[in-house]
Amino acid sequence: MNVSFIGLGIMGSRMANNLLKHDGIILTVFNRSPEAAAHLEKVGAKAADSARDAVAEADVVFTMLSAPEVVEKVAFGDGGFVDAMSKGALWVNCSTVNPSYTRECDERSRGRGLRFLDAPVAGTKMPAEMGELTFLLGGESSDIDQVRPLLDHMGQKILHVGPAGQGSAFKMLVNALLAQSMLVYCETALLGEKLGFSRDFLMDTLPNLPVTAPFLKGKAALIKEGDYETQFPLELMLKDLHLLDVTAYEQKQPLFLAGLAKSVYGQANRAGHGRDDFSSVFEYLAKPGQALGEGRAAVPDRSA
Ligand SMILES: NC(=O)c1ccc[n+]([C@@H]2O[C@H](COP(=O)([O-])OP(=O)(O)OC[C@H]3O[C@@H](n4cnc5c(N)ncnc54)[C@H](OP(=O)(O)O)[C@@H]3O)[C@@H](O)[C@H]2O)c1
Repeated sequence: MNVSFIGLGIMGSRMANNLLKHDGIILTVFNRSPEAAAHLEKVGAKAADSARDAVAEADVVFTMLSAPEVVEKVAFGDGGFVDAMSKGALWVNCSTVNPSYTRECDERSRGRGLRFLDAPVAGTKMPAEMGELTFLLGGESSDIDQVRPLLDHMGQKILHVGPAGQGSAFKMLVNALLAQSMLVYCETALLGEKLGFSRDFLMDTLPNLPVTAPFLKGKAALIKEGDYETQFPLELMLKDLHLLDVTAYEQKQPLFLAGLAKSVYGQANRAGHGRDDFSSVFEYLAKPGQALGEGRAAVPDRSA
């Protein structure tokens, strides 16, 4: 099968690498910065000079790009790849984008005689490397059946949650929980430190309580070591909270707390944590001067 992979960042490079480990897949890759494609070329991929060149022969095209505006540019913009795909070929978009934009991609692809699958993933850098992602799929069962063997090389679970748009919709829910659980945990642990508990004690005990989200066990161990090496960049979590906000507005469902979370991640992003892991919001909140605004007390000082 001729397969193309466009977008070789933290996730895409690892997913594409897993496809290369299997026989019967001829893989062509493209990335804006050529180094990532050159790396995969050394292990058997063909590196294309443009997104259009990458898809010319493809039966299936995967994209793993950062945000809707990037998907728009790479797929439909000047030199966009969709017009270079063969009629009947299948585009599988794994990038996290909002559900209404996904439905647009589906309609515009079908209007060009292509097929489309909405295929965001749950799981981060290590699950991507180990081929242990969960695919949250929106689309036709027959299209899923065609790519199931490819998805099985990159993931260990496939959830078909409805038509195109529903994969992205479900991904919005997952990241709403992820973003807010992280913030609640960070604020709680930092208050714990102020109350006299050591960081080590808090990072060892709080994640084991039944009230704490299970993913925080792994994150707390890293926070304890001050290790914010990027698995999921904070700037992309901010993007997802923005997409959640757009989605909530479209659905007329207020999301007060997610709005607050967006504002906190936005401030951490402006403070320079954008390309750190999203758990680095802990570092941001740990510096009260930053989090509360330099030189201003958040609570009036009544001690004088
Ligand atoms: N990391 C995670 O844990 C994780 C988990 C689940 C889902 N996701 C989602 O998966 C997608 C990719 O995430 P990632 O972590 O792999 O992000 P990443 O490392 O930042 O990679 C982003 C990709 O998009 C490309 N890109 C960005 N801006 C571009 C532009 N203006 N024109 C062309 N290409 C552009 C990048 O190309 P360059 O290499 O040239 O910058 C790179 O290939 C995102 O939608 C993210 O929300 C991430």
